[in-house]
Amino acid sequence: MSVTWALPFDKKIKPKIGENNVIDEKTYSEIHEKTVKNYKEFWEEVASQLEWFRHWDKVLDESSPPFYKWFVGGEINASYLTLDRHYNSWRRNKVAIIWEGEPVDEKGNPKEVKQLTYSDLYREVNRVSYMLKEKLGLRKGDTITIYLPMIPELPIFMLAAARLGIVFTVVFSGFSSDALATRMNDAEAKVLITADGGWRRGKVIDLKGIADKALEKTPSIKKVIVVRRIGNGVRMNEGRDIYYDEIMSDIPHNAYVEPERLKSEDPLYILYTSGTTGKPKGIVHDIGGYMTLLHGTMKWVFDVRDEDVYWCTADIGWVTGHSYIVFGPLMEGVTGIIYEGAVDYPQPDRWASIIERYKVSILYTSPTAIRSFMKYGEEWVKKHDMTSVRLMHSVGEPINPEAFEWFYNQVGRNEIPFGSTWWMTETGGIMISNLPGYLMIPMKPGSNGMPIPGLEADVLDDNGNPAKLEERGYLVLKNPWPGMPLTIYKDPERYVKVYWSKFPGIFYAGDYAVKDRDGYFWILGRADEVIKVSGHRLGTYELESALIEHPSVAEAAVVGVSDPIKGEVPVAFVILKQGYNADDNLVKEIINTVREKVGPIATIDKLYFVSKLPKTRSGKIMRRVVRAVTMNSEVGDITTLEDEASVDEIRKAIQEFK
Ligand code: WTA
Repeated sequence: MSVTWALPFDKKIKPKIGENNVIDEKTYSEIHEKTVKNYKEFWEEVASQLEWFRHWDKVLDESSPPFYKWFVGGEINASYLTLDRHYNSWRRNKVAIIWEGEPVDEKGNPKEVKQLTYSDLYREVNRVSYMLKEKLGLRKGDTITIYLPMIPELPIFMLAAARLGIVFTVVFSGFSSDALATRMNDAEAKVLITADGGWRRGKVIDLKGIADKALEKTPSIKKVIVVRRIGNGVRMNEGRDIYYDEIMSDIPHNAYVEPERLKSEDPLYILYTSGTTGKPKGIVHDIGGYMTLLHGTMKWVFDVRDEDVYWCTADIGWVTGHSYIVFGPLMEGVTGIIYEGAVDYPQPDRWASIIERYKVSILYTSPTAIRSFMKYGEEWVKKHDMTSVRLMHSVGEPINPEAFEWFYNQVGRNEIPFGSTWWMTETGGIMISNLPGYLMIPMKPGSNGMPIPGLEADVLDDNGNPAKLEERGYLVLKNPWPGMPLTIYKDPERYVKVYWSKFPGIFYAGDYAVKDRDGYFWILGRADEVIKVSGHRLGTYELESALIEHPSVAEAAVVGVSDPIKGEVPVAFVILKQGYNADDNLVKEIINTVREKVGPIATIDKLYFVSKLPKTRSGKIMRRVVRAVTMNSEVGDITTLEDEASVDEIRKAIQEFK
């Protein structure tokens, strides 16, 4: 999928706030070039700003590319960096997390707000580490799965695992049983942490029920810890399930667990993400490189200072939350907000009320959220004081210039830095962005700006040559960077194949992009079969697998098509087995199957019945062709197509759709 709007290459805006930091793009390019030339020294300098238990012997081990290792010989601990350092400083009693639950009272005020200081967080994380170690016998290198809503226990379990070198894999609470089971099995997790439910738009999501279904197929899980969020008395499986408060009840309040001296290149977590065909990939991130990248980007991109109140509206279940709700902000000692629910619940201005209530100064949100605020209208924003906001960014998908301008005006008062940070699960942190905390170039609405220091990016054509300026090509990253993946869990060959083979020796991101004459990057969307629904990353494979689990479905193809609010939505084409009738009931049933198996984020927007699908002679579904027909755009080269009539079938199905 690619953006459907015109790119305003020539429109430049200088933010008034932070004006002194603004330099022209030529000067930035020159400075940037120097950091890239000596990128190892550059990153070494950033890494030395962290606290290491042992200094590294070598900045970068390049002996077995693309399996690069950063800061080899160095010893470090992410839980120590985010907690002990602040606990041992004046920040001990500074608020680390302001948590707001979704439910509101009759006046519309939040019913539950909790503030955790760095000291509170430190204590709770130590207690949980103690429990994981002493009661569950978990050790460095073991794996656990965390399937929790946006409650404080989610970062607490992540940090407690990190303290011991236990590898955690968080599964977004909007995923359902199949998605959860696949991820637990691949990670061979020993323990699952979940909750008796979570609030979303006033409804309880039955996380435990979904988990129970998944657990029928996950033999590696021996224990399930259930956090009481709702208090609704869920079914507990004796011997396997235990409530969090019960297992914690006899852990001393001052329990202390020494943070493990972990190797820089030890794994911190596995995060599953969708890619081109096949099951989700377990992206493994290291500790030393990852924390170094987060430290750099927290400063350069967000310009964080001690007086800031920082709010990233993402869910911790996605990489944005891992890096920029949990590890990045806490390492920098920031006061951050964690909001449990939907940003437009119970009223469209919930998000604006949160900004006003806590005087948010740094805001990190998504184009989908911005477009939905736009649709509700500016009167909702006007009800609240937005003047505390001094810097903002969006992430997850391309931002259309119209949404940029609207938000810049409504919240940014036409004067503050505002950017669109490009990165992905694989990169660990932000790669291409406006950098108000470093050197800021003028903003261009819809553009991502330029690569961060120490990283060379480019846009290549099909032959691997630099694409012509202002013409579409493939986004690549040309030098190793700290925070890059260690591998795909249990599948190193796939790691090489997916990312390092299209253009040998350099990292292929899978995105279309253009570079303009000033050197600005504009990322246009995925060049593969990934669909970004409201910024959430979904693979066609998972959706199609869920579709064919319905007894009536013989074959299915899913493509992403543009949507004015969500960016993209999945559309399905289905071939029915003999004996089934293509009626409305069946449509509903099939769509429900996908929601149940994958999750509510995987709601099929439209479902069409066809009798054939466009395939190559070797039987591969040509989704590119399906998508082009669906979007009414150029179908392009179809010489490899087995049966051209299949294209007309798709066209007809769309025309006849009521
Ligand atoms: C897309 C999310 C345009 C892109 C951090 C990428 C963006 C995918 C932007 C990764 C942006 C992310 N502008 N596109 N600012 N940020 N993307 O792994 O297609 O969930 O490949 O990581 O999101 O999605 P992921």
